[in-house]
Amino acid sequence: MEPNSVQPSPAASSPKLIRQIIQYPHPTLRHRSKPLRRVDGELRQMIAEMLELMYARDGVGLAANQVDLPYRIFVMNPTGDPAQKDQEFILINPEILSRRGGVEEKEEGCLSLPGIYAPVRRSTKIVLIAYNLQGQQVQYELEGLAARAAQHEIDHLDGVLFIDRLSETALAAVREKLLELEQEFRTNRRLGLVPDDRQIAARWASLEGLRT
Ligand code: NI
Repeated sequence: MEPNSVQPSPAASSPKLIRQIIQYPHPTLRHRSKPLRRVDGELRQMIAEMLELMYARDGVGLAANQVDLPYRIFVMNPTGDPAQKDQEFILINPEILSRRGGVEEKEEGCLSLPGIYAPVRRSTKIVLIAYNLQGQQVQYELEGLAARAAQHEIDHLDGVLFIDRLSETALAAVREKLLELEQEFRTNRRLGLVPDDRQIAARWASLEGLRT
């Protein structure tokens, strides 16, 4: 840069609403999300930040609890490719209307359980209703990875993790890694990096009071 050149001002942008993806066993991952009452600019920003985080971490889905928000929203792109916008789903207050097809067991992972992969049984086809960013009701029939990812994300919104759905054998195989994450969480709490349960619950109540 030339010594007398004008420093470009940073692009105008709102401060980030979302800090990070929380990890097992953070209590917000066990909290049942509340349906949202409205869509506004702040919610759009939260969703944009969730998509950004999901792509940055090479995920195919991300639920609001995973970014420490007690709201019933998830984002998903089964291709994991930010360029494939037509494969991007933003689902507000999603509900599974029906499960069709058979059941299939396939390996899953989760951005909140880094390094843990295990087979989970899921329906191969589901019908989902939700609201989109325009506040309109939408309905999707999903199959394959999209159906699996949506079931995984809706579980998150209900406070359920994929490790809750493992066979005894599969759970035993990941037990050591779960204990490591639990140990890491306790250390982070001791260091003051994670608030205590009462503070977390108070934050849920205040965020829910605003939007649910
Ligand atoms: Ni997950």
